[in-house]
Amino acid sequence: MADERREALSALIEWYVEAGIDLAIDESPQDRFAPQPPVIAPVPPKAAAEAPRRPAVPATPLRALAMAPEEAVGAARHEAASAQTLDELKALMERFDGCSLKATANRLVFADGRPGSRVMLVGEAPGAEEDREGLPFVGRSGKLLDRMLAAIGLGRDDVYIANIIPWRPPGNRTPTPQESAICLPFITRQIALANPDILVCLGGPAAQTLLQQREGILKLRGQWFDYACGERVIRALATLHPAYLLRQPQQKRLAWRDLLALKTALGAVEDVAG
Ligand code: URA
Repeated sequence: MADERREALSALIEWYVEAGIDLAIDESPQDRFAPQPPVIAPVPPKAAAEAPRRPAVPATPLRALAMAPEEAVGAARHEAASAQTLDELKALMERFDGCSLKATANRLVFADGRPGSRVMLVGEAPGAEEDREGLPFVGRSGKLLDRMLAAIGLGRDDVYIANIIPWRPPGNRTPTPQESAICLPFITRQIALANPDILVCLGGPAAQTLLQQREGILKLRGQWFDYACGERVIRALATLHPAYLLRQPQQKRLAWRDLLALKTALGAVEDVAG
């Protein structure tokens, strides 16, 4: 009986995970369909009625919800502009409470690789593994990304990697336009402080957000754009996201073309510099 129950429970959990429900928002389960007891207003004892009321203090995760989106975007812009180094930026993002994604994520996923690298890659948002480890692209798509970079002679230490959204959206859902707008000042500042020669946008959301494009990634990929990076204008390439390539492996040939274009561009930048 106990075994049957265990099996039924693990089947239920698997079913939840497949449906994208892979984290608990509350400490204990709540049956929202259970019949509610009638609400009878208690008659307060005199002393209790006269006791001063304590102001309700919202729990930390709810603080973000108290901020209007425009207020949060303004706060993010102000904070991001004040950071003079990547370390400062990371520290103030860790303190920032204006994005509600922070409430459900385990931690900030700031960056990996070597700051100051000539190539910076930007993805969409961390997944479950990235959220656990605190580093971008360490899951399945990260492993593929490593192989793609290795194919043109680049390792993690030759590039700098971040995401548009630094907190994992629950169940890997698509970030809302509001969440993207709140996080945009941070990634924009991160790119300016990392100061790469070439920016690579991995997938549609990164390309559309950073390059201000509306077309889908299959139209944008392989194209070069100008990107205003602080005081400089650098080159930016849009390419396919490794997670998409895992689902559509026949499209790897397109990604390979983009990687070769990146390699050629790196050579060209080197020739100009040297
Ligand atoms: N997908 C992304 O866009 N970023 C990550 O860090 C991991 C997966």
